[in-house]
Amino acid sequence: MKIVVCNTYDELSQYIADRVASLVNEKPECILGLATGSTPVGAYEKLGEMCKAGKVDFSKVRSFNLDEYLGLTPDNDQSYRYFMNKNLFEKINIDINNTRVPSGISEDPDKMCKEYDEAIDAAGGIDLQLLGIGENGHIAFNEPASQLYSGTHVTDLTESTIKANSRFFEKIEDVPTQAVTMGIGSIMKAKSIIIAANGANKKAAVDVLRSGMIDTNCPASVLNAHRDVTLVVCGC
Ligand code: PGA
Repeated sequence: MKIVVCNTYDELSQYIADRVASLVNEKPECILGLATGSTPVGAYEKLGEMCKAGKVDFSKVRSFNLDEYLGLTPDNDQSYRYFMNKNLFEKINIDINNTRVPSGISEDPDKMCKEYDEAIDAAGGIDLQLLGIGENGHIAFNEPASQLYSGTHVTDLTESTIKANSRFFEKIEDVPTQAVTMGIGSIMKAKSIIIAANGANKKAAVDVLRSGMIDTNCPASVLNAHRDVTLVVCGC
């Protein structure tokens, strides 16, 4: 695993934005795997600026997001579809029809999950997957457990995740308790992965990842079995 240590959040954001932009410039029809959360916001902002300045063209790019809260409609301002539209898709020249976020309101979530993985495979697989990491070591909504799912699936959120994510909601009771998430296998199929961690609260999880061990109680550590992972850290 390659490790990039950044001194500031701005540096971390620039590193991610540059990696995405250089892939898109090299392969205009690439498939991006995208993440929500506070960590990638700076990189998305920079990509918006780079696109506006004509330094990168997303017109042929397709994207798949990692996860979505179960029960939230795309126009709910807490949904991850809404987050992506606001923080990235409206700032770049991507065709919104080429962007996919798992549906949080599917009538048949199991079928939707299966079709989501099939759509990623049919697109040729994800070229570059961006990931954040939870304080508890989760990636997407793959929570610590003795067994991890391979494919996209519906999952219960842990207390730790609900508490961590409650900062975006008015009150903790408003945080959905379930989500749809790409599984560990779906993520591991990506050709290249960047996992970013910003802040001392991520240190414990990052330490497990850096130890080189694989521990399902720190799902991110499964990335130690992937051949092209870059861990970008700042303050942890
Ligand atoms: P954060 O979330 O970027 O908001 O810290 C990361 C995650 O929980 O995966």
